[in-house]
Amino acid sequence: MLINIGQLLTLCQANDHRGPRRGRDLKELGLIEDAAVLCQEGKVVFVGKSRDVLRDSRLKKRLRQAIEIDCKSQVVLPGFVDSHTHPAFIRPRLTDFERRISGASYEEIAQAGGGIRSSVEAVRKASRSELGEIILAAFKQMNEQGTTTLEAKSGYGLTVESELKSLRAIRDAAASWPGTVVSTLLGAHTVPREFQGHCSSYVDLVCHEMIPQAARRKLVQFVDVFTDRGAFSVRDTETIFQAAAASGLGVRAHVCQLSEIALEPLLRFDPASLDHLDHVRDHDIAKLARGNTVATLVPGANYFLGLDKFPPARKLIDAGVPVALATDYNPGSSPTPSMPFVLSLACTQMRMLPAEAIAAATINGAWALRLEKRKGSIAAGKDADLAVFEVEDYRELPYWFASSRCALTILKGLVMANAGSAEVE
Ligand code: NIG
Ligand code: FE
Repeated sequence: MLINIGQLLTLCQANDHRGPRRGRDLKELGLIEDAAVLCQEGKVVFVGKSRDVLRDSRLKKRLRQAIEIDCKSQVVLPGFVDSHTHPAFIRPRLTDFERRISGASYEEIAQAGGGIRSSVEAVRKASRSELGEIILAAFKQMNEQGTTTLEAKSGYGLTVESELKSLRAIRDAAASWPGTVVSTLLGAHTVPREFQGHCSSYVDLVCHEMIPQAARRKLVQFVDVFTDRGAFSVRDTETIFQAAAASGLGVRAHVCQLSEIALEPLLRFDPASLDHLDHVRDHDIAKLARGNTVATLVPGANYFLGLDKFPPARKLIDAGVPVALATDYNPGSSPTPSMPFVLSLACTQMRMLPAEAIAAATINGAWALRLEKRKGSIAAGKDADLAVFEVEDYRELPYWFASSRCALTILKGLVMANAGSAEVE
């Protein structure tokens, strides 16, 4: 049981069942001061004032068995839901990093043989266990920063065999980590060298081999596509989404990172999320505002690529589009496992309020993964996934940047302090 909590952010609101948070609702944190949260068997069983939990006669027996964690002068919130990560790679891309510092753009580097393709060979060569260990290390780093649920994409193998190997490595890592992992097949990340000039044959491979095999082996929940200039077209994406739907999988896509992309044809497939959106068009903003597809913004990529412009968060939120925030952890454009840093970027570079950034990183992240019934807020019956921060005011979460203030997380009832873990009831 967590007790004496300085500020508890429940992220609960009366009309939460209706859909992801949008507009003014995005800043409703459901804040309770001097609060308590009681967890049992991996679930939240009570949320309220500290004094009420101690008085509740029905909770007496449970309380006797409970471990008590005093959270005086601390902030407790739902663990972050990092709904967009690419952890299945072997090593950093340091030459790309230097080329960019010398003035080359992300697209120029890719055209010159760097970019996503330069991460492929090492993944193809790696064993499943080597890859699994690297992925597990990334999950742990994310967790140290307050993340308790994450989405993990494949996408650096680009053959049937190495994409399935990446997904199995993600599954292995997920089995060794007490948090929650949602897996996504990103076979359509880029056209691999051996298919250069034969994009449609590669799309066939994704549709007829990768997707059905990954689905049959129950390795993934979602299929993702990098839909942009120099990657896959809207037409390719529709074909891939159709194959995903035929295999019973959900869809999501990287869109408008580098150029304007027409979203209407993709929205017909009811994607759980569309991500990046730097170059989203006004009439597509209006369409996004009418649906439940989450717009996932990943400002870590803009920061790391040294861009002046960031995704138009204010415009999206003010138009009523449900917005989420994620790290986009990957070796090319956003090598950060830190959701607090992303929150800080959201506030300083995209003018999101601290409260909006927190809701975007929790409850709306959960919607972006279709996990809203279990994750993203602290309510009786939901998974006991919590993050405890060593700060007195929630606004300090994005305020202190590049410093880790996460004291501990709770993953389905299991306490993870930086050193070791213990079961909590
Ligand atoms: O989300 N845009 C495509 N995918 C990644 C970058 C991947 C890479 O460069 O390795 C992104 O930014
Ligand atoms: Fe990405």
